[in-house]
Amino acid sequence: MPKIKTILVTGQNGQLGQSLKALVPQNQPYHFTFTGRNELDLSDAQKIAAYFKQNTFDAIINCAAYTAVDKAEAEPELAEAINHLAVKQLAEIAQKNDSLLIHISTDYVFDGTSCRPYSEDAAINPQNIYGTTKLKGEQAIQQTACDSVIIRTSWVYSEYGNNFVKTMLRLGDEREQLNLIFDQVGTPTYAADLAESILKIIDSHQNGFKQEKGCLYHYSNEGVCSWYDFAKTIFELSAVQCAVSPIETKDYPTPAKRPYYSVLNKAKIKQQYQLNIPYWKDSLQACLNKLK
Ligand SMILES: NC(=O)c1ccc[n+]([C@@H]2O[C@H](COP(=O)([O-])OP(=O)(O)OC[C@H]3O[C@@H](n4cnc5c(N)ncnc54)[C@H](OP(=O)(O)O)[C@@H]3O)[C@@H](O)[C@H]2O)c1
Repeated sequence: MPKIKTILVTGQNGQLGQSLKALVPQNQPYHFTFTGRNELDLSDAQKIAAYFKQNTFDAIINCAAYTAVDKAEAEPELAEAINHLAVKQLAEIAQKNDSLLIHISTDYVFDGTSCRPYSEDAAINPQNIYGTTKLKGEQAIQQTACDSVIIRTSWVYSEYGNNFVKTMLRLGDEREQLNLIFDQVGTPTYAADLAESILKIIDSHQNGFKQEKGCLYHYSNEGVCSWYDFAKTIFELSAVQCAVSPIETKDYPTPAKRPYYSVLNKAKIKQQYQLNIPYWKDSLQACLNKLK
């Protein structure tokens, strides 16, 4: 593989895209190009082909995705186009151009029936359209023999866009009491931590790190919590006076079914790329400091 000089980041307006953009000043050796749906619409195969006729990159970080988990149940074709077919096309383009493809996937490829953290080779069984289309994206990359790294992550939040932390801060100000699900357990991921790790992964490949193609990794912050614990901690750390009551998933029906348990085992990515991953409460504090 050639040295990595040019990097394309898709999904520039999303949480991870914006978190990567914030790291550009510290990563000057690379030349970054950021695209949103206006420059590169991943729901349109012809536009993707036309874009890559004009532009080539040494690495592509695919942060774009159809991420509206509930809405995907009503828009399966669009979710399929962005999360599967576009990813397949990106993998084929990466293979043709000898580029490294870094792709982000999800804990929702699992059914949540485990009670031990999921490793990369655990049985997959997505429970909703979003998870199904994301899994097909992963598999399409693995079937294409392109140089690639697939990172499954979970419960992403940041100072950008819409996410659980920002929703809780808004609702915590508006209401005196909130009901939060306590029987879905996972680990939050601060997008800034993931962004930093992705750039370390690129550095490792730049320095000659070799692995099998389409290698899967799991990444979240350290620790475990429920949405109830997550909300309680957001309020505690930001001194918001809002009572939180635990409820069960069955008391908060949503169009998409979600896994009860989706804690990811991160041993492989930590070992392979020598990553130190922060504890989720420490990263939450860092994000809250930025939001102040
Ligand atoms: N958020 C989570 O909790 C979570 C959990 C597990 C895995 N992940 C995965 O992590 C990655 C990053 O997630 P995120 O939280 O940063 O997502 P996000 O904030 O929802 O950003 C996704 C981006 O994709 C863009 N996009 C959507 N449709 C597009 C299209 N047709 N063409 C081009 N761009 C399009 C969106 O553009 P607009 O801004 O124009 O809408 C948005 O900027 C995704 O692969 C996601 O599946 C996320």
